[in-house]
Amino acid sequence: MIHKKTALKKTASKPSGYTTLRGMKDMFGQEGELFQYIYEAGKKIASAYGFGYIETPVLEQAQLFIRSIGKGTEVVDKEMYVFEDKDGSRVCLRPEMTASIARAYINNGMQSMPQPVKLWYFASMFRHDRPQAGRYRQFHQFSCETLGEHNPVVDAELIVVAYNMLRDLGINSMVKINSIGTLQDRENYLVELVGYLKSKRSYLSEDSKKRITKNPLRVLDSKLEQDIAVVEEAPQIIEWLSGDSKKFFMSVLEYLDEAGVPYVLTPTLVRGLDYYTDTVFELYPESEEEGSQSALVGGGRYNGLVEQLGGQATPAAGFSMGIERVMHVLKKSMSTEQQDQALKKGGVFFAQLGEQARKRSLYLLEELRRAGLLVQHNLAKSSLKAQLELANKCGSTHTLILGQKEVQDGTILIRNMESGIQEVVDQKKITNAVRKLLGE
Ligand code: HAM
Repeated sequence: MIHKKTALKKTASKPSGYTTLRGMKDMFGQEGELFQYIYEAGKKIASAYGFGYIETPVLEQAQLFIRSIGKGTEVVDKEMYVFEDKDGSRVCLRPEMTASIARAYINNGMQSMPQPVKLWYFASMFRHDRPQAGRYRQFHQFSCETLGEHNPVVDAELIVVAYNMLRDLGINSMVKINSIGTLQDRENYLVELVGYLKSKRSYLSEDSKKRITKNPLRVLDSKLEQDIAVVEEAPQIIEWLSGDSKKFFMSVLEYLDEAGVPYVLTPTLVRGLDYYTDTVFELYPESEEEGSQSALVGGGRYNGLVEQLGGQATPAAGFSMGIERVMHVLKKSMSTEQQDQALKKGGVFFAQLGEQARKRSLYLLEELRRAGLLVQHNLAKSSLKAQLELANKCGSTHTLILGQKEVQDGTILIRNMESGIQEVVDQKKITNAVRKLLGE
């Protein structure tokens, strides 16, 4: 028979042989708090602008994304987690969710709901990319999508939401914006662009050479110096826009001026997904110290997508914010104190002392919860000192203290954490007292 103590000791010192997969990570503690803090900020701003929450499956038919995002894009050609399901069908972990939204719009008959349909989501995406700073294989996006309206104010509103959400989080961002016109505009432009790129072929990088025939627009946002020199002289898509697209784009810019959102016209911005039409935009951290070269937000109009997937012609636009990238910027730009401040829950802590008090605590905590009042606590802790330290860590302004004596006489102490002054309150009045402390 194995001696219990020895067995325990052995397992405790042995590290797990399993690790997370490359490009994927656990989030907990301070990072977990930061994640939720951003989630709450997203939820708040999306509700304020009238977006309704949507959840869609993580697993979808692979073809949905191949059709939407397009062959020849990095995401479809290299990054999708595709595999065969047990019934032999080709499924994949969603690399993004705009295609899922267009599918859900069609499947759920949303075209017969009052238009536009405004949806938000906060969800994990999967791309088998080369992991590096701010680039993961499983990452999260906060997104807003507006379907059923072709109006420049929709595009402007989406940019305003993304811009203000970042500002609320303390990140100054820069909006890069362009228009890539209608599918027809783009076809005309592509003839011109391909002709130009072919004439400069020998100056281009090997990757860009391949893209001339595969996906010439991608050459425009190459980060390689030799390509940049060629791209600077390339014909600009804005010159090829139809009258309507030009007018639409000008209106988007006017709305942004009106809303006080600064932007930079960026003729080379074309985005890496095929479904875009007209407005495309990306948001970057304003200062170099705040982040890297990677976009915090990407979005644009996708007027053709719903129809392409078998629905009625439905104009639409949206954006997605990369949560890990936002977290990266926040971690770099905020001092530890600022992070503590932002994440501090404040409010009230509940401390108990002695076995009887611990038992009574469960009852009282439930009473508070039913009244909609949330208080921090850690029932596993026995010492008052440890619990008061925890209360301080949580930034609690007050701590309720329940000891043996209080259990017996039906009272509870309320301690002001700053002054240390304590007052005695009848347990029956605890909900009212806590409500007052929380300012509710
Ligand atoms: P996207 O540009 O592919 O657009 O992604 C949007 C944002 O997600 C990026 O700006 C970035 O912050 C974040 N992101 C992308 N890939 C990664 C990664 N591997 N690791 C960490 N973060 C990443 C879309 O996904 C479109 N669905 C956006 C959209 C919504 N367009 C219209 N509606």
